[in-house]
Amino acid sequence: MHILMTGGTGFIGTALTERLVAAGHAVTVLTRQDRADSDAIQYLQSPDQISNDSAIDGVVNLAGASLAQRRWTPAYKREILDSRLDTTRALLGLIERLDRKPGVLVSASAIGYYGHHGDEILTEDAPSTPGFSSDLCHRWEELALQAEQFGVRVCRARLGVVLDQGGGAMEQMARPFRFGVANWLGDGRQWLSWVHRRDVIAAMVLLLERDDLSGAFNLTAPEPVTSRGFCDAMKRYKKTVITAPVPAPVMRLMVGEMADELLLNGQRVVPEKLQSAGFEFEFPSLDDALQDIL
Ligand SMILES: NC(=O)c1ccc[n+]([C@@H]2O[C@H](COP(=O)([O-])OP(=O)(O)OC[C@H]3O[C@@H](n4cnc5c(N)ncnc54)[C@H](OP(=O)(O)O)[C@@H]3O)[C@@H](O)[C@H]2O)c1
Repeated sequence: MHILMTGGTGFIGTALTERLVAAGHAVTVLTRQDRADSDAIQYLQSPDQISNDSAIDGVVNLAGASLAQRRWTPAYKREILDSRLDTTRALLGLIERLDRKPGVLVSASAIGYYGHHGDEILTEDAPSTPGFSSDLCHRWEELALQAEQFGVRVCRARLGVVLDQGGGAMEQMARPFRFGVANWLGDGRQWLSWVHRRDVIAAMVLLLERDDLSGAFNLTAPEPVTSRGFCDAMKRYKKTVITAPVPAPVMRLMVGEMADELLLNGQRVVPEKLQSAGFEFEFPSLDDALQDIL
């Protein structure tokens, strides 16, 4: 297959590209960066560089400014939104003009789609509550769905907190533990729906390959944990000398609006549709994942 990917230089995209290339597929990455091509990976800066008669079998849409790296100023919130919507619009423009349409679009979204629901278990059919992340995901998914009008099968991948070595959320979450400090955030009862990056990659390959799958898919491990549960699990792998939870007001002072949106509230999400499709997680429990990562 020839896969076109945005965000192919990122934490998830790099691993997905490696997996696709290892399986014999060719990948074209749309990127803002100037990178040298390799045998199986071509880097382009604009969809305008792709001619109408190009043969693209599948599209993966991962690009977007990070939600966790910077304080959410009004300007940065605009960038978070625009970086996703503009990229998705550009892909739609490309799909519209291609002579032969790709079979599938796998477009990233996030479990922030659901908003905040306390302890409620959330499957793909769960309703959402308003908020910046939820609104962002709704708009991102609605745009991606427009590819269906061109006969493209669309899978919306609602990603949980993706864990692995070498980047992503784990880097920040593990930092205090590296200094012997165990912690959770706020009261620690908020849910953390995590997923190992290898399971994300395997799930995305499944969504690319299986013609019978479309719609929204929660890409989260089957066993979400609370913030305290995450702390307890980390303590089994990292020697800590003190447990020092970070109170909610301190989190709000440190990171502003992001604290309540992403850190002090969470979602208890389960991957109902993936499991119904027969997907088997390599890392169903956090202990399995941490043993591999740490
Ligand atoms: N990792 C997670 O835990 C997680 C959880 C939920 C949802 N997601 C979503 O999944 C997608 C991939 O996640 P990731 O962790 O792989 O992200 P990442 O490492 O931050 O990579 C995202 C990619 O987006 C592109 N990008 C960054 N800023 C941009 C901007 N201002 N305008 C246009 N493109 C920009 C970059 O590609 P170039 O530099 O090549 O242009 C970058 O490689 C993201 O959209 C993210 O929101 C991730």
